[in-house]
Amino acid sequence: MISNDILFELEHLEFSYPDSDKILDNLNFTIYQGEAVSILGANGCGKSTLLKILSGLLSPTIGSFRAFGELVNAQMLQQDEFAINYHRQIGFIFQDSDVQLFCNSVTEELAFGLLQMDYTPDQIKLRINEIAKLLSIEHLLNKTPYKLSGGEKKKVAIAAVLLLNPRVLILDEPTNALDPKTQHWLVGLLQQLHQAGKTLIISTHNLNLLSELSTRGILFNEQHQIVADAPIEQLLQQQDLLRQVNLI
Ligand SMILES: Nc1ncnc2c1ncn2[C@@H]1O[C@H](COP(=O)(O)OP(=O)(O)O)[C@@H](O)[C@H]1O
Ligand SMILES: [Mg+2]
Repeated sequence: MISNDILFELEHLEFSYPDSDKILDNLNFTIYQGEAVSILGANGCGKSTLLKILSGLLSPTIGSFRAFGELVNAQMLQQDEFAINYHRQIGFIFQDSDVQLFCNSVTEELAFGLLQMDYTPDQIKLRINEIAKLLSIEHLLNKTPYKLSGGEKKKVAIAAVLLLNPRVLILDEPTNALDPKTQHWLVGLLQQLHQAGKTLIISTHNLNLLSELSTRGILFNEQHQIVADAPIEQLLQQQDLLRQVNLI
């Protein structure tokens, strides 16, 4: 259910990497608690960069970025207390699971975030077993993350993030490189999480799964500007526009 609570508010936001041209050009939009939003655009249009700003991993070069009612900037994200609190509210699933998984076993991977919080060892064990059951990864718990398949790694990365119970889930091209069965499973899981009240922000250039994954689409052109922000069904009907931005 979409509420009146504003989670993110971008005004005239621009971003450039050091020595790069503008990667995000004059972004203006608001995301409310409980929405399921897809960020769409061809490769290189700036989707991952935008998700990193929303996740507090990068800060805008120009313009304002508000999250959870507060202005967020680079100085604030450098303060440990602010950053820890911020990152606890947002679960970021990287496109490449390998950058997210670094422990020797899946159990250690799942325990990692919980160990930074005030859980007893018994509580940690219980929560890991619960999430492993939910994601059907019980059989992977003693395995080494880097030896898993792409789909298994994605499940472990998602489990690790869900354990911390974030308000918002941000997923960068989550269905990329997954086999059809795992894609189908992931779409089902995301729908379930959305129904349970999580806000979802998902980047993709895959139009097939779009209407199942989101209710709203924000569409970029290859010049790094937003050219549409509309209900997903409406967006999918704009074939000319989708062709212009090189998505079909
Ligand atoms: N760390 C970086 N330094 C310089 N340029 C970058 C960096 N990361 C991405 N870019 C460039 O920014 C543009 C947008 O990248 P990205 O946000 O990854 O787009 P998308 O996710 O839509 O494919 C691309 O041209 C890419 O080469
Ligand atoms: Mg990307």
